[in-house]
Amino acid sequence: MPAAAEFEVLNVADPYDCTTNPTTGLTSPTRGVVSVYRRPLPATNLGFLSTIMWDGREPDLFSQAADATLVHAQAGAAPGLAQRRQIVAFEGCTRADTPAACATTPPGAGLFTAQIYDDQARWLADGGAEGGPASLARQVTRFFIGANDPLGGNPSGAPFTSQVFTLYDAWDPASGAGAGAARAAIARGEQVFNSVKFNITGVGGLNDALGQPIISGFCGTCHDTPNAGDHSVKAPLNIGVADAGANTPPVLDLTGLPIFSLWCVSGPLAGQIFAVTDPGRALITGKCADIGKLKGPILRGLAARAPYFHNGSAKTLADVVEFYNQRFTIGLTDQQKADLVAFLNAL
Ligand code: HEC
Repeated sequence: MPAAAEFEVLNVADPYDCTTNPTTGLTSPTRGVVSVYRRPLPATNLGFLSTIMWDGREPDLFSQAADATLVHAQAGAAPGLAQRRQIVAFEGCTRADTPAACATTPPGAGLFTAQIYDDQARWLADGGAEGGPASLARQVTRFFIGANDPLGGNPSGAPFTSQVFTLYDAWDPASGAGAGAARAAIARGEQVFNSVKFNITGVGGLNDALGQPIISGFCGTCHDTPNAGDHSVKAPLNIGVADAGANTPPVLDLTGLPIFSLWCVSGPLAGQIFAVTDPGRALITGKCADIGKLKGPILRGLAARAPYFHNGSAKTLADVVEFYNQRFTIGLTDQQKADLVAFLNAL
């Protein structure tokens, strides 16, 4: 629990007894340890990150390396300066890392992962396409914080474009049979991602931050980093994945997750109660306004790492697409859903 949080933990439905156990968990509604279940994020493609960890708790990879060694790896002591530099040099720096941490690896070096082959569409960098990690490693040199920020934060002054992914522009979206048909589906799915407009409503950190109850947007309004798909500036958002209330889109499977009832006792939301499987960024800031806020992760290499979302509540990419279709009443056709899934599988 963060010190001086605006909320108290009223109650936890706690299938693994971690948070309710007096040794490992809370010692009172305001003190002790809250245990949440988050999928590990890939330790690759890091040069595209604007936010480290789901809730942005780490300022840079230098500090992440120390905390992961102490907490996740349960070491007795943090690694020294030289070792932390070696870890970060191996992973590749982010734009948030200090020059000292990046001494031997400029942002843009390091490890890259992306889908490289599809059973039907075959090699994803063939025929003028730019799938796979080699093209991604070239792309990172053009990334900077705010690279395609829809909220006007692009330091170059360039306007936002919803055409976030251009990897499969060269493939014919109307092609016929065999590998051609599979490539056409991927190319059409890219167009759905880039061009299908829908109303974004009720997203904490976006609609309220802009004072716009309805934003006519795209997948890329939140997944705006060109050909990577994370947010190009820090933007903790609540799209409803952590909600355990009546509003949770039915496609999400919350089985096995704890459900916290958080009672806001101070601050602008005092008096309200939130039911969530994870307090999200509020675990860092203690603010009720940050309950359920998480980052939009990088969308490369997705096929290899089901289940999806921070808590694994979407079993497949088809469930992810169905979540968005239900949550924002997009009205995707079966064809558009299948094409979008084919595209996401090719990232
Ligand atoms: C309003 C902002 C917003 C919009 C619009 C949006 N996303 Fe997301 N997306 C997010 C956030 C935030 C997360 C992380 C949520 C979580 O895990 O709790 C996410 C997660 C995902 C993930 C899961 C990645 C992983 O590693 O688990 C996929 C896939 C994805 N989005 C695809 C899409 C597609 C496709 C669309 C368009 C139909 C879309 N998103 C529209 C904000 C958005």
